[in-house]
Amino acid sequence: MPTFDDILSTPTLFTNRDVLSPHWVPETLLFRDKEITRIMTAVAPALTDERSRNLFIYGKTGTGKTCTVRKVMAEFEARKSSARSCYINCRMYNSRYRVIQKMAKDFIPELDRSGFGLNTLYEKLMDWVASDSTSNPPRARRVVVILDEVDMVRDLDELLYTLTRMNDDLQGGSVSIIGITNKLSFKDALDPRSKSSLCETEMLFTPYDTEQLRQILANRASMGFKAGAVDDSAINLAAAITAGETGDARYALKLLLRAGELADEKHLARITHNEVEAARRSVDVDLAAETISTLPVHQQLVLLAVCNLSLEGQRYARLGGSPTASAAHEERPLMSGEVYEEYSRLCRHYRKPKRSARWYREYLNDLEMLGLITTVESGRGMRGHTRLIQPGYSPSQMKRIIEAGATISGPDDPTSGEAPEAGGPSSTGPGRPGSGKPPAPPKQSIMAW
Ligand SMILES: Nc1ncnc2c1ncn2[C@@H]1O[C@H](COP(=O)(O)OP(=O)(O)OP(=O)(O)O)[C@@H](O)[C@H]1O
Ligand SMILES: [Mg+2]
Repeated sequence: MPTFDDILSTPTLFTNRDVLSPHWVPETLLFRDKEITRIMTAVAPALTDERSRNLFIYGKTGTGKTCTVRKVMAEFEARKSSARSCYINCRMYNSRYRVIQKMAKDFIPELDRSGFGLNTLYEKLMDWVASDSTSNPPRARRVVVILDEVDMVRDLDELLYTLTRMNDDLQGGSVSIIGITNKLSFKDALDPRSKSSLCETEMLFTPYDTEQLRQILANRASMGFKAGAVDDSAINLAAAITAGETGDARYALKLLLRAGELADEKHLARITHNEVEAARRSVDVDLAAETISTLPVHQQLVLLAVCNLSLEGQRYARLGGSPTASAAHEERPLMSGEVYEEYSRLCRHYRKPKRSARWYREYLNDLEMLGLITTVESGRGMRGHTRLIQPGYSPSQMKRIIEAGATISGPDDPTSGEAPEAGGPSSTGPGRPGSGKPPAPPKQSIMAW
């Protein structure tokens, strides 16, 4: 068994791995000067004791929304004025109560250990905003609250109402909001008043193109790897792959990090396009694993059916037939009917009530949208008209992920509200199948945005 000394003395191309982590906030943000200026302009009034404008920032994942805002707000805080900001990730603080509690606890440390109700927290927060006792004479404060991933707040109308009401209740002082999201559609469900207060000023972050990604990666590589360890071909390919998918800088950095790890494993002196190509496969499988494990049970069973049949086809091809026949079998797409039969068998095996063929077709749509399978309609020449299905990733890897998870062997979701074997998507309106809620979308590029 190796010792820590062995591990620590293993040669590596990295000089600082943290620099390539998605959580690392770079000192210089390339290509975001315009956005930085706009955010600064929006919040600057708070520094001169005026209300700053609410700002709504949107753009695809990995376009630098979070790190840009955090960078601006770090400078805002560094000015040591009586204006204050509070950053809240709404994935964690996903309700009005949690957001108000987080604000109160951040600003008033004595509240840290107490479990006050919403009204008390609101009052205490109001008192704190209304009077900054550290200034002479005491005066009201200007507060900017950053709601990152704001779409995750369950009762957003109520939260926005509470935050804007604070401004009505305050004599001096104010609370302004910066809302950030990568999902625009949630806005449609908002109350018109919430929408207009949240979106007072709007700002779009556009995806990075190949050249921008190339420079972001080159800059990071120079900080994270030994000099000369990263070949230009590696940076160029990682930038091109990412720009061709979503322009997500986080994905590009993941590719570079994984390529470095692969090069270290193989004791290579340089990271080239070959390692980036291999990294792409491995990063995509990781992302697929994340997606698969959050799928509702019936989507997992349909996907398992696809995997089983594909693997059976491959086994059959290996056992008999000529090399040509073998290749033909490995490529053979599955017919929708046979996948449904296998899905039905799996439902019996895992003791789940089988869903109707109409739901099954919706499950196929979901899996296809997530890039886990590909389907084409059969043209003329096939018996009847069927949908031909192929796995989007290695069936053995996907099968392993599904079988290792607890979803298919756990209890059936009682909240799904679907009658087994009966009805279908259209009988219950436009709602989605499975657990009755959409599968959590993956954060990354395997899904069409
Ligand atoms: N302009 C840039 N210059 C350097 N690095 C960047 C830039 N933009 C993004 N990054 C890198 O990409 C990572 C992801 O960016 P960030 O978390 O800000 O994206 P986001 O738009 O908030 O994505 P999401 O919508 O998924 O939350 C950052 O941690 C940073 O390392
Ligand atoms: Mg973000």
